[in-house]
Amino acid sequence: MAAAHIPTTTLPSGAKMPTFGLGTWRMGESARRRADEVAALRHGLDLGITLIDTAEMYGDGEAERIVADAVGTHRTEVFIVSKVLPENSSRRDTIAACERSLKRLQTDRIDLYLLHWRGSPPLSETLEAFQALMKAGKILHWGVSNFDLGEMEDIARVRGGDTCATNQVLYNLARRGIEFDLMPWCRERGIPIMAYSPIEQGRLLNHTTLREVAKRHEATPAQVALAWLTRQKGVITIPKAGSKAHVDEDLAALELGLTRDDLATLDRAFPPPKKAQALDML
Ligand SMILES: NC(=O)c1ccc[n+]([C@@H]2O[C@H](COP(=O)([O-])OP(=O)(O)OC[C@H]3O[C@@H](n4cnc5c(N)ncnc54)[C@H](OP(=O)(O)O)[C@@H]3O)[C@@H](O)[C@H]2O)c1
Repeated sequence: MAAAHIPTTTLPSGAKMPTFGLGTWRMGESARRRADEVAALRHGLDLGITLIDTAEMYGDGEAERIVADAVGTHRTEVFIVSKVLPENSSRRDTIAACERSLKRLQTDRIDLYLLHWRGSPPLSETLEAFQALMKAGKILHWGVSNFDLGEMEDIARVRGGDTCATNQVLYNLARRGIEFDLMPWCRERGIPIMAYSPIEQGRLLNHTTLREVAKRHEATPAQVALAWLTRQKGVITIPKAGSKAHVDEDLAALELGLTRDDLATLDRAFPPPKKAQALDML
């Protein structure tokens, strides 16, 4: 199969990042599934899916080792995102956590390094660590995850906080709260949103409306949920697929053009927010 054409988005630094990639949460938790997980990510790379999202938390570090096994000698083609846990986000511990991730990932740099969610260490310390890691070339960009609007405003006030590359949040058809305020705030500043759990960890698959729209296109509900995200500018989507078949199906969502009728049907079943809502998190 020819390499897919995956659109890119521009980060505030001017660098480009793919808008579609693969997640790795729940990978590395079962020795029995390990080979399939490596094969799924490698299959994705063979198809041109060069963005991989992982975290020190996933599989207690094992997901990062799986990423290393999948990437192998293709490191230069791949955009790796990893995350530091809030309990490790003091200045010193962030740097130590990053060094451990680099070892597990068998690489000398992480393309985008995120604070997984806000913890008790001051944001200024985490940012100092991110800046030191960038200076050393160990991370190329930094960002945050699970930050609501108030937290984004807090980080923007910290010295260097205006260089935040992304906010990775729960966003899918069933979780549209961010459209009210967080998303417009990020858009205004050119900060792309990374939409995690794009198919709500599988819970969207049996939804009647998704099935109905999928049927119109001879597609699947997963593809409709993904296409609804991939059509949006400034949104990066990272489904997790543990098998080659799911990788193929998810990637094909990029080819699915939802019509205005489809979008209206989806809006009726999953109405956009009418007022501010606290950010959901999984
Ligand atoms: N920053 C954060 O706090 C945070 C939180 C959650 C997730 N994330 C990131 O976002 C990624 C994606 O989110 P997620 O893993 O929570 O949920 P998700 O991508 O919405 O759903 C993953 C589930 O959907 C299944 N699936 C994938 N493609 C499918 C298809 N075509 N047909 C049927 N089932 C399909 C997968 O099964 P198989 O495994 O069998 O393919 C898996 O059980 C994570 O892996 C992680 O990298 C970040």
